Amino acid sequence: MINKNVAQPVIFHFSFDPLPESLYFPSKNIMRVLAISDIHVDHAANLEWVKHLSRWDYTEDALIVAGDISDRLSHLETTFELLKQRFAEVCFVPGNHELWIRNDGFSDSFQKFHAILNICQQHDVRITPFLFGARSSHPVWIVPLFGWYLKPEDGPGSLFLPKPGEDPSLAMWADHYHVKWPAGITNSTAVRYFLRFNVENGFSSSGYPVITFSHFLPRQELIFPENFDPVEARKHDRFPQFNFSRVAGCWQLDEQLRALGSTRHIYGHQHRNRHREINGVTYISHCLGYPVEWQDNADPVLPKVVWESS
Ligand SMILES: [Fe+2]
Ligand SMILES: [Fe+2]
Repeated sequence: MINKNVAQPVIFHFSFDPLPESLYFPSKNIMRVLAISDIHVDHAANLEWVKHLSRWDYTEDALIVAGDISDRLSHLETTFELLKQRFAEVCFVPGNHELWIRNDGFSDSFQKFHAILNICQQHDVRITPFLFGARSSHPVWIVPLFGWYLKPEDGPGSLFLPKPGEDPSLAMWADHYHVKWPAGITNSTAVRYFLRFNVENGFSSSGYPVITFSHFLPRQELIFPENFDPVEARKHDRFPQFNFSRVAGCWQLDEQLRALGSTRHIYGHQHRNRHREINGVTYISHCLGYPVEWQDNADPVLPKVVWESS
């Protein structure tokens, strides 16, 4: 029986789980922009990766998702819900996978593109330029750039570079089978269609820093690492017939991001991480990729900080 006149020992229940960062620094007052691309949540391990992102560490941050979440709209919505529970802002552009038509009721990829934009708006996911931290002392513009890739036969702007032994038919490229433009629309017309959104949004930076992002590559140099050795690369090439430069992106994206005054551009698509400065712009690619590409990593993949207020 407990004697209420005697002080009882206080029993502490210890947890060995680390406290979330936000409890250590409840008013850190630092705004960060983080980035990830190619989440591909159709793979169960990738959806689990999203679910395991901290609910505490990013609550004041913006996340750029540079395309290729899923071609299934239900997966897209689930991912947006999970990310919106974790980040203050989520910004997105569709990649090529989102525009695949696979028994989902859409007549063409343009129709699906607009359905995806509607879903983004319903989930309060940013698809137009916005000033992140507008009430802070260090706001930054985050500007999505829609786009597509130009193949060498599509005219000026392709990032194409010849590759010995390649298959120019792109028979092993899934877009070849799943992307469907409306009748009478060519690939080059489709590129112009997407790029037009980027100049019609009425954006003006007003002197604040500008971060742009796209799914597709804006420059040919970004296809290769800076220390690229073609002989060594050929030895480890798992798909010698596939020439990625045929479907990498287009130079017009680089013209647009520079015209907008961007000094930092985030992109995805290739599943290769890069960090490179070219003529005053820092280009960053930071992907999750397919499970086979990340599950054996020594360090866990997390969204990368690409900007923070000082
Ligand atoms: Fe991808
Ligand atoms: Fe892609």
